[in-house]
Amino acid sequence: MRKPVMAGNWKMNKTRDEALQFIYAINQEVPPFEEVETVICASDVLLRDLVKRQGEDLKIGAQNMHFKEKGAFTGETSPRLLETTGVSYVLIGHSERREMFNETDESVNQKLLAAFEYDLTPILCVGESLQVREEGKTDLYVEAQIKKAFSNVSKEEALTVIVAYEPIWAIGTGKTATPMQAEETIAAIRTVLTSLYGKEIADQIRILYGGSVTPANVKELLQQKNIDGALVGGASLEASSFLSLVNAAKNK
Ligand code: 13P
Repeated sequence: MRKPVMAGNWKMNKTRDEALQFIYAINQEVPPFEEVETVICASDVLLRDLVKRQGEDLKIGAQNMHFKEKGAFTGETSPRLLETTGVSYVLIGHSERREMFNETDESVNQKLLAAFEYDLTPILCVGESLQVREEGKTDLYVEAQIKKAFSNVSKEEALTVIVAYEPIWAIGTGKTATPMQAEETIAAIRTVLTSLYGKEIADQIRILYGGSVTPANVKELLQQKNIDGALVGGASLEASSFLSLVNAAKNK
């Protein structure tokens, strides 16, 4: 059985005060970590403060990192620096990074490999644009993203990766993929993982859906066989709505 994951991606939102208020509000309310992995991915500036105050059933993650340990990369954060904040997760290859900050499949792969070295659990994001979906090429597109991201990743490492399927056209648009669309593509991702690592491994890798997930639509999404949780933007900003998402994951 795969343990469900509910991850919030705050993106470039929340001041320090707002972030701490949120953490205090949910710390005692999140289900035991053995039942659901609850993660909040916040701005680098907030990470250390949040880690210091996270309850034992809540984990904190970063939203990006560089793949190099150190060097002349002005404005970047290395995995080593993330390690010093005490975070345990890191988003890799979010579509906003791919679209606006020139992230490529190659750098995504390098970041994934760096995450293993620093014991950070990567949440690897993949997903197609509206154009790709309308051309009927979603599975091929996502398959290529997965294959490139996982190159030189061992079976043991692959097991620690959480994949997030986020169709770009569903992010922040209020347009959610239907549970069937999400399930189909996520099942296709599991088939690719099976071709790379065998069924036993692929069946253990968690795959999340992301894109306009809300308390109103989460249940139906989580009912799908291959969907193991969600990566949530907008609806993770309010403590009450995030908690209701986490509780839905608990009851999956
Ligand atoms: P929304 O939930 O706001 O659509 O954002 C999804 C997302 O990009 C999470 O990483």
